Amino acid sequence: MPTWEYAPAPESRDIANLKPNYRMFVDGAFVEGAGEPLKTINPATEEVLAEVSTAAPSDVDTAVKAARRAYEKVWGPMPGAERAKYIYRIARMIQERSRELSVLESLDNGKPIKESRDVDIPLAAAHFFYHAGWADKLEYAGFGPEPKPLGVAGQVIPWNFPLLMAAWKIAPALACGNTVVLKPAETTPLTALVLAEIIQQADLPPGIVNIIPGVGPVGASLVNNPDVNKVAFTGSTEVGKLIQSAIAGTGKKVTLELGGKAANVVFEDAPVDQAVEGIVNGIFFNQGHVCCAGSRLLVQESVADELLDKLRTRVSTLRIGDPLDKNTDVGAINSKEQLTKIRELVQAGEDEGASRWTSPCPVPDKGFFFAPTVFANVSQAMRIAREEIFGPVLSVLSFRTPDEAVAKANNTPYGLSAGIWTDKGSRILWMAGKLRAGVVWANTFNRFDPTAPFGGYQESGFGREGGRTGLEAYLDV
Ligand code: NAI
Ligand code: MG
Repeated sequence: MPTWEYAPAPESRDIANLKPNYRMFVDGAFVEGAGEPLKTINPATEEVLAEVSTAAPSDVDTAVKAARRAYEKVWGPMPGAERAKYIYRIARMIQERSRELSVLESLDNGKPIKESRDVDIPLAAAHFFYHAGWADKLEYAGFGPEPKPLGVAGQVIPWNFPLLMAAWKIAPALACGNTVVLKPAETTPLTALVLAEIIQQADLPPGIVNIIPGVGPVGASLVNNPDVNKVAFTGSTEVGKLIQSAIAGTGKKVTLELGGKAANVVFEDAPVDQAVEGIVNGIFFNQGHVCCAGSRLLVQESVADELLDKLRTRVSTLRIGDPLDKNTDVGAINSKEQLTKIRELVQAGEDEGASRWTSPCPVPDKGFFFAPTVFANVSQAMRIAREEIFGPVLSVLSFRTPDEAVAKANNTPYGLSAGIWTDKGSRILWMAGKLRAGVVWANTFNRFDPTAPFGGYQESGFGREGGRTGLEAYLDV
């Protein structure tokens, strides 16, 4: 077998224009927050990247008030065609600064540069472009002749796709005429603050977008602020439930994008090599820190041995290490806490009797890393089959008949996404109709596009983001 050795090909970290200090963005200005400053680190090296000021409850209040003023005086009354120009300008500026944003994202999050460069940043720009197009066409979106915005949106996002999640939240809110207060995740605040710089340079009037870093309680005081009309959250099911009960009865409109434990179902007639690539992309993309990751592989028994052999061979070739190296396939785990959680669940898998295989690839000794791991002989009751691991760990189960595949795929409290691999179009349609998942991919996995609505069933949350359907979450319909 060829060894596929590569020389290091690191992207220069200077491109990130890293500053020692970052401040909150409130009412059009960068200001010091009264909260405890946080230090954001590079998870690949554990070095401190920058100190970031955070919001105290009084700052949350100030930001929401600024957003309210901007909503009433400027953004709400502005014609859609005018709003579109700003959103379009933001999209263009993200493209212009894409290299800087990619390197900064990889430094702060740990994801491989090839992913931030080819997925996160281009998609973030695409969300602004797409929604710029809607801003003057809302009356044709199917929600009545004059759909109205909701007001101030309080948005809380996670650390797995920092800039992309900010774009998913901000772009539709702005297109529909709402103003925004957004809290990035505590471990990945930097690209959202560069987005704030872009927003300032795009001359968006003050207060329309406010970005306030901070820890969980800052998010809680944002979503609970009585002057917030719409809450949008992406993160853990645990916090999603807290938010839902906290705002029950307040009349706030809410969308929750929570966890997942997606089934990736491979039938015996599937093209095996393609399926292997799809499985790898499904679970090892972004270190498995993906809510819609294909973390449960369901493979038809007749091809299970062959598929697993090929899969292990392929996974052994994945290069793990420096996120800034253009050849890196698997980067760093975002935080020590997340690494601890992955280790604990992997230990549970071993204790419960599943067969663990871990790629023999070399792993850096500094930073937070976890080698790609595949568990075979997994049964449905095991924790590794039920809980979201949110790491580069795949659980493999088998099935004999299509009905059994459906039953096993749906045997989860979640329902965000699923994959089907088969040569038969009829089977794809049959399965897609039976799977309780918001997104079903056929002979592919982890494909994202701003035109396609994304969202879950059951404990994966509710509401849709993206596409025409996604506009509904930001309109009074
Ligand atoms: P988390 O849900 O605690 O954090 C997500 C965001 O919510 C962060 O911005 C955080 O500051 C904020 N937050 C925390 N508590 C809050 C509260 N009470 N009210 C409002 N906002 C609050 O997720 P965490 O702790 O980072 O990860 C834990 C697990 O959650 C992961 O291991 C993974 O399984 C899952 N997760 C799922 C994500 C997804 O995209 N579905 C994203 C992040 C985590
Ligand atoms: Mg947390």
